[in-house]
Amino acid sequence: MCGIVGYIGRRDAVPVLLEGLRRLEYRGYDSAGLAVVYRGKLQVTKTAGRVQDLRDQVSDRVHSTVGIGHTRWATHGEPNEVNAHPHLDAAGNIAVVHNGIIENAEQLRDQLTAAGVTLVSDTDTEALAHLIAAEKTDGSSLEDAVLRALRRVEGTYGLLVLDVRCPDELVVARNGSPIVLGIGENEMFIASDVAAIVRHTQRVVYLDDTEVATVRSNGYQTRTLDNQRTNKTPTTVEAEAGDYELGPYADFMRKEIHEQPEALRRVLRGRLDERFATARLGGINLDARELRSVRRVKFLGCGSAYYAGQMGAVLVEELARVPADAEPASEFRYRNPVVDAETLYVAISQSGETLDTLMAVQELKRKGGQVLGAVNVVGSAIARECGHGVFLHAGPEIAVASTKALTNMAASFALLGLLIGRVRDMSAAEGSRIVAGLRALPEQINHVLAQEDNIATIAGQFADAEHMFYIGRVRAWPVAREGAQKLKEISYVHAEAYQASELKHGPLALIDASMPSVVLVPDDELFSKNISTIEQIKARGGPVIAVTSGDLPADLADAVIRVPHCTPELDPILLTIPLQMFAYHMAAKLGRDIDKPRNLAKSVTVE
Ligand code: G6P
Repeated sequence: MCGIVGYIGRRDAVPVLLEGLRRLEYRGYDSAGLAVVYRGKLQVTKTAGRVQDLRDQVSDRVHSTVGIGHTRWATHGEPNEVNAHPHLDAAGNIAVVHNGIIENAEQLRDQLTAAGVTLVSDTDTEALAHLIAAEKTDGSSLEDAVLRALRRVEGTYGLLVLDVRCPDELVVARNGSPIVLGIGENEMFIASDVAAIVRHTQRVVYLDDTEVATVRSNGYQTRTLDNQRTNKTPTTVEAEAGDYELGPYADFMRKEIHEQPEALRRVLRGRLDERFATARLGGINLDARELRSVRRVKFLGCGSAYYAGQMGAVLVEELARVPADAEPASEFRYRNPVVDAETLYVAISQSGETLDTLMAVQELKRKGGQVLGAVNVVGSAIARECGHGVFLHAGPEIAVASTKALTNMAASFALLGLLIGRVRDMSAAEGSRIVAGLRALPEQINHVLAQEDNIATIAGQFADAEHMFYIGRVRAWPVAREGAQKLKEISYVHAEAYQASELKHGPLALIDASMPSVVLVPDDELFSKNISTIEQIKARGGPVIAVTSGDLPADLADAVIRVPHCTPELDPILLTIPLQMFAYHMAAKLGRDIDKPRNLAKSVTVE
């Protein structure tokens, strides 16, 4: 969702800001804007369109060495030019861009109006510009004014402030919405997401909640809202500029699907222990005794992260014989959950920013729950809030639909299941079997990827379907759910997932020639049960696409996608890949905007 970028230094800020905003487009937005200081005045350009429109609107004559920019996802007020950021104070001295939600905005707006201020937009953010202006009395620094203003604010923010009267500094603040400072040579970058700045620098500092910083071209200083100086140590980001480029691919989703063998190798690197037939997960900070005392594991996430959690629950139950389940974090946080001290909670998030998941973690911590993060973005809010966990090392994921991050989530949960299993009842021989199975997976994924032409052809045959069923059993049930989700989100074809055995209890009534079913048929102990599921569907005239690692009777299914045999417990990881490719090619045949599906955002940072 919303994105922030800022620059102060020696080069022209306008192209730096525009390029940064372009890098943030993947997050989803509906309007954009920027402000720079030019000839002693704030020059503001805004559009209710794309970053390209903004680029077209910015005058070529405007140059500046300091500026701020924003992509907005509307929350308060419709997505028009007036509501787009930056917002200014009445005198036009101060410009702010803001991510997050000011909860007492209504109250602040009323107070400002009562004090004679005219607000021009419907946003919560504009109030911040006026508040800061009111606090910027003679002699006080911009940082002091921001600090004082923020003490009156309730809510979440990543905030970037420019004052035309102090063009050699920018002030930033963070509470619940990420802000990262990028350190260059006599220049500094500011962003809500390293994607915007990584082509300029990999040395960064992540602000903590309730921290405020003054940034100048030659450095920065940080302090907390209650005026304590803080010391930050810069870190180096893993990602490189090339990770954000398409290379030979037409879109990021296909690129990321094909990156999965490599991404999977990264998440496994150093974490498989052949000698003791177990996993090494140093980041979880739990010793054998603590792992033994885990009575239950609960996975929490939203969207694909939730389905990965379901895969995790099946894996942990099977490998560790510990009861496990998954729940959407969005539900968990609203239902006053019973938090159990002997349960290990796992918060799952690619971005580490999803507000529902973050709130679930905070609720858990408030109630004394033990929570690990399974997060892709280092330094993100959820990773920091959890404090310990498993990083997914999938590399930056740009397409809205999650592919390589989801695969690495499931693989991490296999590692977790293996680790908990091995401190309990799993034998070394069993452990070795799982270790070998995980080692073999990247190459097996390559075999699935090599079938892309076949999968594309099948997608072509079914691209005019209006509805589809995805059918799976036990291990393959979360795979079916994730497969249906992928199809819905990127191709807009309606899809429903069912457990195979539930078909006969209702949905079978919908089966006819116009309702194709994707049936997952791993070559496991339920193989023959799944064959009879296909027969039930065929008997009612329903077309079937079978995804299988077994030998299906000839002509049983209308189309077959083969996946290699793997360690059965790991089947969900492998079976997910062809469903990603099937959804991708359905969407491609239907001419959809695959990387940016309508109405969806990559990171949902609002309720
Ligand atoms: C959004 C995205 C989904 C994603 C979910 C969770 O809804 O559109 O693709 O699965 O958020 O995101 P996270 O970053 O927490 O994994």
